[in-house]
Amino acid sequence: MTDFPQTVRIVEVGARDGLQNEQAVATADKVALINALAAAGLKDIEAGAFVSPKWVPQMADSAQVISAVNLPEVNLSALTPNLKGAEAAHAVGIKEFAIFTAASESFCQKNINCSIEQSIERFIPVMEFAKAHNIRVRGYVSCVLGCPYEGDIDPQAVLNVSKKLLELGCYEISLGDTIGVGTAAKVTNLIKLLVKYIDKRKLAVHFHDTYGQALTNIYAALSLGIATVDAAVAGLGGCPYAKGASGNVATEDVVYLLQGLGIEHGVDLQRLSEAGWQITKMLNKQPLSKVSVALHNK
Ligand code: HMG
Ligand code: MG
Repeated sequence: MTDFPQTVRIVEVGARDGLQNEQAVATADKVALINALAAAGLKDIEAGAFVSPKWVPQMADSAQVISAVNLPEVNLSALTPNLKGAEAAHAVGIKEFAIFTAASESFCQKNINCSIEQSIERFIPVMEFAKAHNIRVRGYVSCVLGCPYEGDIDPQAVLNVSKKLLELGCYEISLGDTIGVGTAAKVTNLIKLLVKYIDKRKLAVHFHDTYGQALTNIYAALSLGIATVDAAVAGLGGCPYAKGASGNVATEDVVYLLQGLGIEHGVDLQRLSEAGWQITKMLNKQPLSKVSVALHNK
């Protein structure tokens, strides 16, 4: 039996997950991208990452980017791996933090330089800081459908770490298929397990499209009632600590899928597509979204 939601909340991650993988994007171009995404109707925009500039130099100007946008109607969020990041994000007015760990020990170590258990410890002061400042916190779990270092991941490991993040106080868990190896069958299996223990309204999907399965996998998640989908305009993205990982599912493709299903999403597809062409022009690329290319060639 299917259980499609009536409305889907799209979390646009192109300005963070997308641009963390691109060299030398000017601060002004990042600001223009975020403004264009907001003008297209996106209400949840991950705008940057307060991580070590030695680890991810591409996000080193996140404070300047966020200070330069003025979008009170948009929920701007940012990655905050530790208290230092949380304080820096708060200083520029971020109202939603995102902490991130993994279902794979090896990936966790490569990405944030600690074990899964240590990452949870490290998040405690972030959560305390967030609570004191009335900031909500999203929790990412990476490698939920496979790991570049360990291969297959046991769904039980995803459940365990997701539960820990919820116990810490995260309002939502975003399930990351970091290297885009998942299939619809694996997604179905994982979500059916998770929803036995976690309210499906607290789950989001964050699928990279490395093997071209992201949209199909999102369809599988939607059919099980998942109502929050992460996506990146033009299919930008990838993780610097997951070799070969390509971009997120393109937001334009998700919007087109939702339109076809009669699910509300609040995004103007034409304006979204233009935002994708604008940023990819700066990157000397073209959008990876087939929907966007088709609209452009019409
Ligand atoms: P560490 O080296 O273990 O930490 O890094 P540390 O506390 O020893 O700090 C080392 C240096 O970094 C120090 O500077 C700190 O001050 C500085 P130094 O004394 O050497 O000059 N530092 C910071 N600077 C700015 N902001 C901070 C900060 N923290 C420390 N917040 C750390 C640990 C977590 C910081 C590091 O590993 C890191 O920054 N990792 C970032 C990894 C990352 O951003 N990965 C990509 C995003 S995750 C992703 O893409 C997956 C996702 O999309 C979901 C999916 O697809 O699966 C979310
Ligand atoms: Mg990602």
